[in-house]
Amino acid sequence: MSLPIAERMSRIGTETAFAVSLEAAELAGQGKKIYPFHLGDINIITPANVIDAAVAAIKKGKTGYCPTAGIPELREALARDIGAARKMKFKAENVSIQPGGKPTISKFILVAMNPGDKVLYPNPGYPIYESQIDFNGGIGVPYGYKEGKDGFILDMEAIRKGIRAGAKILLYNNYHNPTGASSTRGEMEELARLAVKNDLSVLADEAYFDIRYGGEPMSIASFPGMAERTIILYTFSKKFAMTGWRLGAAVGPAKFIEQISKINVNHESCSNHFIQYGALAGLQGSNEEPDRIVAALRERRDELVKRLNEIPGIRCFKPEATFYLFPNVTGAMKSKGISDVEEFRKRCLHETGVSFCTRRHFGRPLPGETEEYVRFAYSGIEMAQIKEGLEKLAKFLA
Ligand SMILES: Cc1ncc(COP(=O)(O)O)c(C=O)c1O
Repeated sequence: MSLPIAERMSRIGTETAFAVSLEAAELAGQGKKIYPFHLGDINIITPANVIDAAVAAIKKGKTGYCPTAGIPELREALARDIGAARKMKFKAENVSIQPGGKPTISKFILVAMNPGDKVLYPNPGYPIYESQIDFNGGIGVPYGYKEGKDGFILDMEAIRKGIRAGAKILLYNNYHNPTGASSTRGEMEELARLAVKNDLSVLADEAYFDIRYGGEPMSIASFPGMAERTIILYTFSKKFAMTGWRLGAAVGPAKFIEQISKINVNHESCSNHFIQYGALAGLQGSNEEPDRIVAALRERRDELVKRLNEIPGIRCFKPEATFYLFPNVTGAMKSKGISDVEEFRKRCLHETGVSFCTRRHFGRPLPGETEEYVRFAYSGIEMAQIKEGLEKLAKFLA
């Protein structure tokens, strides 16, 4: 081959959910009506104050490079905002602005992990964890979630086992994609206790911290002994409906944050300059717009949970955070005589147009898994379409 590909590229993963999008788009191109529950994008426009401030910044000439770790005003505002929401204290030096939330995952791993290190990560979970651990030569140690009474709970025993096997790094995503799980205070306390006792480095992926429908938010970074060992992944994508703008941050101990910014110098010089003024306006504005986004999502969640639970053979929790549902579809598959969850997904898509991901899109299945799950995202679909799609799905699965 004239352009050989390096060995490491055989170890990088992808978001296979994008393949579901392609399949759905292809069917839509053939004229089939699609109900898009597969992608975690948001079909709500970014708040006007954010848009106006970014446009004004372009017009004012904020179109050149800016400091690698972000404009000082945004770093300061984010330090204050993240600190206040988590009852912690941060300064600008604790914040490195990133082009999205996602880059914090790979940069954290690059700074914290040596090749051969064992890294605990959620599975099912955001697929980029597994991809980046493998790509950078680490050894992924998966831990799962189990069905509790009202929602999914961490498999703490799997985490303890991983620590006993030598894992020194923990990737922890609360509030959790794809299950929608929120850790209880007790669960988080126990996890923090384990992290401190075993001297773990922790990435707290808090991409959905602000997409909550009840209860007080909690960050593992705020528990005793955790601030000095935790990097928080922050993103503007969800709270301000800014997925396509690409802006987020890594937040934590200044010495670690400096190393993360060094990677930014090498990769992108700086994050997009004028967009940072938009994000700043978002942080300084009232909470009215973010609240409106969460209110719209809550209505969709309530409708979707109700309708899914009305379908025989489907069991679905009502999560207090994120915009995902992770229903157990084992019974529905059985009554259709389908034993493979991918086949179930495809049959539902082709027969009804209802498009969703399955457990398989969120990491390699673990040994001993007996139940089948799919993931519904309700961030990119209107209420009327939710009702119509679920009617078709209910008929198909009846
Ligand atoms: C758990 C989790 N972490 C991080 C991200 C990255 O978000 P973004 O890069 O769009 O800010 C996502 C996006 O879906 C996510 O689900």
